[in-house]
Amino acid sequence: MTVFSPAGRSLDLAAVQTSVEAVLRDFLDAKAQAAKAEGLPQDLSRVLADFLAAGGKRLRPLLCVTGWHAAGGGGGDAGVLRTAAALEMFHAFCLIHDDLMDRSATRRGQPTVHQTLAARHPDPGSEGAAWRGVCGAVLAGDMALAWCEELLDTAEHPPARRTTVRGVLAAMRQEVLYGQYLDLLVPATDLDAALHVIRYKTAKYTVERPLHTGAVLAGADEALLESLSRFALPLGEAFQLRDDLLGVFGNPAQTGKPALDDLREGKHTALFALAAQHATHAQQALLEKLVGDPDLDEDGAARIRGVLETTGAHSTVETMIAARYRQALAALEDTPLPPAAAITLRRIAALAVERTS
Ligand code: IPE
Ligand code: IPE
Ligand code: MG
Ligand code: MG
Repeated sequence: MTVFSPAGRSLDLAAVQTSVEAVLRDFLDAKAQAAKAEGLPQDLSRVLADFLAAGGKRLRPLLCVTGWHAAGGGGGDAGVLRTAAALEMFHAFCLIHDDLMDRSATRRGQPTVHQTLAARHPDPGSEGAAWRGVCGAVLAGDMALAWCEELLDTAEHPPARRTTVRGVLAAMRQEVLYGQYLDLLVPATDLDAALHVIRYKTAKYTVERPLHTGAVLAGADEALLESLSRFALPLGEAFQLRDDLLGVFGNPAQTGKPALDDLREGKHTALFALAAQHATHAQQALLEKLVGDPDLDEDGAARIRGVLETTGAHSTVETMIAARYRQALAALEDTPLPPAAAITLRRIAALAVERTS
């Protein structure tokens, strides 16, 4: 596979996506065949294949391959692509469990995994069905984590590099789990705490560690990894701040997630911390009444959005995204990188902050 565009400048991101998707499809097909041969259910591999086929930007694999090029790796190394695919499998684990934790019914425009599995119960609307969906999604997520490991173990790398990459991935796993746990605890009005959470639950596993993974496979030294972190962490934070805005103001047809989910869940995001800090007493009372109401309707959502606008919370989050984007680009300016890698990182950074899905 060639990952260079015809202009020979930026990496061909579409080619990376296609290659990674082929690795995942072949892997899951083989798992379904093996399950069939052993008389085991094929549901888990099929449900994961459907989840991956439903969409996703493949940001983590793209960053992994770009990290490899940033550290001087060349061509379309099969071991790197398989490792990139493993990161997408890890992401599937994160999302399937996240949707349980957030009680989300829709992801990538489709019912979430726990909803899909609940609907297959003989009595689909029952409590037993819902619980089976939850348990099935725990196991599907666990299986994605196990298969992430298997993809990594079967990716060809020199032994010393395999050991180093293992260290990066161990850090990544731990960081995102701490981040997701912190997300459960963060108080509604604490902006600093909300920013701490997004660094751990998103920025590290979405941008920093995928870049490090590819870079260490090409033999990156500590100085390069630090430079990549200076780019990755502000960008990853900007990415999650954009996600928080899309969760409230985005178009569900583009995000693949319902417009009321975050509001009904009462997510303690930077956006809401800012609104709470600047709300009048009346606005505060309105937020307390409506945010987190599981029966919130469109009218209530519009009133919440109004408070997010008039308190300036929405525009402040846009300003925070822009500041972090600038910081990420400045870090790139200070880092000597192969031109194709630098151009690609700039492209990915723009996609991450300007996205609508
Ligand atoms: C969603 O990640 C979860 C967050 C970390 C915000 P993505 O926005 O990368 O999800 P997909 O893979 O494109 O669906
Ligand atoms: C993002 O969680 C972090 C992880 C999935 C690990 P969110 O709950 O903020 O993301 P979405 O909005 O469901 O994608
Ligand atoms: Mg969520
Ligand atoms: Mg969440």
